[in-house]
Amino acid sequence: MLGRHRIQTKTPDEIRTMRRAGLVVAEGLAQMGRAAVPGATTADIDRAGRQVLRAHGAESNFLNYGAEWGIPPYPGVACVSVNEVIVHGIPDERELHDGDIVSIDCGAILEGWHGDSAWTFGVGSLAPDVAALNDATREVLEVGMRAMLPGNRLTDVSHALEVATRRAEERHGVSLGIVDGFGGHGIGREMHEWPFLANEGKPGRGPRLQEGSVLAIEPMLVLGGETDTRTLSDDWTVVTVDGSPASHWEHTVAVTADGPRIL
Ligand code: MF3
Ligand code: CO
Repeated sequence: MLGRHRIQTKTPDEIRTMRRAGLVVAEGLAQMGRAAVPGATTADIDRAGRQVLRAHGAESNFLNYGAEWGIPPYPGVACVSVNEVIVHGIPDERELHDGDIVSIDCGAILEGWHGDSAWTFGVGSLAPDVAALNDATREVLEVGMRAMLPGNRLTDVSHALEVATRRAEERHGVSLGIVDGFGGHGIGREMHEWPFLANEGKPGRGPRLQEGSVLAIEPMLVLGGETDTRTLSDDWTVVTVDGSPASHWEHTVAVTADGPRIL
């Protein structure tokens, strides 16, 4: 199944437009990160993101997402996921406190082309093991991305992410769990395009990456090793059952002849 299709490629012009969408997302994430201070609510963060999208005339690909397939339409332009929330935290009146770890995931559409990215911030100062979790997750993204080369197969990237996670555990002296069932994805004229990109797995399977393939790559790690996850009754918020904190980093990346390019 995995190997049956080719990943649709984007032209250099299309990639340039996706890069512009990505720059809007980056500015939104930077502004939202600045808003992530003790006493702010997750809704305040979402509002900071809305302002940036509006200032650039970009549409949100998150807002109302899911409406077509019978789940409650997503109500924000960003997912703001605090501590035990892994991903898809709905912005609300939850207040941030010193020591919270908060993943901010945001996307934008410009001229029909999508950007999608997530950065995880510390509010005030993080406990050393939580800071290590966040540094490790970011490093896993950076190292895993390097496998996004023309000719490599999809699960070579998954495998690189898994190996990078095990190395990061050793380097940082913490136990890390890879979140099951969530991962990256193709992206282009839709936010979620085929294929799904797992954050772990055996190498050498799935379609080959080619020049012009564009994928969102998004490791999600939890502190303390593997743990069960659960989706809350709002149908969105994904949490760790044991309350352990999570980090999530995501880039939209184009495969080019010169190597992976963050859009
Ligand atoms: N960025 C998320 C992802 O990569 C999408 C968030 S779901 C939404 O899959 F509903 F908020 F859009
Ligand atoms: Co994504």
